[in-house]
Amino acid sequence: QTVDWDADDTGKSGYDHYMLKEIHEQPSSLRQCLRGRVNELQGSVTLEELDAVVEQEFASPVQFVACGTSYHAALYAASLLQQEETPATATIASEFTTDRVPVNDGSLVVGITQSGETADTLRALREANRAGATTLAVTNTVGSSAARAADHALYIRAGPEIGVAATKTFASQQLALLLLSVALTGRSSHDDIQSLRRVPDQVQTILDTSSARAIAAELVDSQAFFFIGRGMHHPVALEGALKFKEITYEHAEGFAAGELKHGPLALVTEDTPVFAIVTGDGGTARKTISNIKEVEARDAPVVVVTDGVSDVERYADHVLRIPETDECSAAVLANVQLQLIAYWVANEMGRSIDKPRNLAKSVTVE
Ligand code: AGP
Repeated sequence: QTVDWDADDTGKSGYDHYMLKEIHEQPSSLRQCLRGRVNELQGSVTLEELDAVVEQEFASPVQFVACGTSYHAALYAASLLQQEETPATATIASEFTTDRVPVNDGSLVVGITQSGETADTLRALREANRAGATTLAVTNTVGSSAARAADHALYIRAGPEIGVAATKTFASQQLALLLLSVALTGRSSHDDIQSLRRVPDQVQTILDTSSARAIAAELVDSQAFFFIGRGMHHPVALEGALKFKEITYEHAEGFAAGELKHGPLALVTEDTPVFAIVTGDGGTARKTISNIKEVEARDAPVVVVTDGVSDVERYADHVLRIPETDECSAAVLANVQLQLIAYWVANEMGRSIDKPRNLAKSVTVE
């Protein structure tokens, strides 16, 4: 008796693609990210490697720099700090120059790069070093160029990622940046820490129950795909669209929900599904629901990623459910549903999911 065997399949643990395997590894990679870093009793976060950074006072806004998916993590991180009244900015690394952005010895510049080898991010970190800033690399790769170039490193501990499309590393970046924001602002309640700790199990619930595969099969023939979100969910909408275009080769765009009516609405038709992220039932959710109504009026299929707290499902053709939690953790959960949508549409189309055309896992040229 013989067994069909392909050397390329050995690491996939029975999954058809590394991407799907890596999506399913998220509960365990997220647990690794949290391990030893949160103290539920004290309601505190300890990032031992960053004690010196946490104790320092910075005169200017915290500056996050990154590319691609990591840039979306940077936008998320800046929102986390801004929410705690700590000024922060996010800049695409290839656009970062200390001529335009004031950087000096009172600055903290954080380069986010899973590979630790992205040329644009490395250049930004080195330029920030030369300008006298304190630099921090948030990376998955111990001993990488970014970890060596920066004064300090925070490891996201996601484990190796083979698929070109970043999945588990993005989720771990989000969680590590949540930890960093708690450590930097010193603000966290027992409830915040509990929400953090619940994220890995909640991701498992999503993986066990997601209806993404069936929704993908229904929408695969659409003309274009749009993603909208507000606040913490804006970077998730951008990331949902990037993942989607990367592996399906279809036109996908992410927008701040409030921007739809300022132009993109002209693109919306019955052939362009709109994925909207709505959690809680506060002002942010209500405003996004108004934007969903504008989309519905143009007969576009509406897919909502929601915790079911608001009445948004009344306006939806399809629902991707996530467990109820605070907005910061919900941004991690919502992204998992969008990863699955991108994966199942690309799979339905027979795309080269692990090695999309024209793309490389790490981009070492500027
Ligand atoms: C993500 O799916 C992409 N492959 C890409 O945008 C990537 O995030 C970007 O090139 C940055 O990579 P880095 O995190 O290794 O710096």
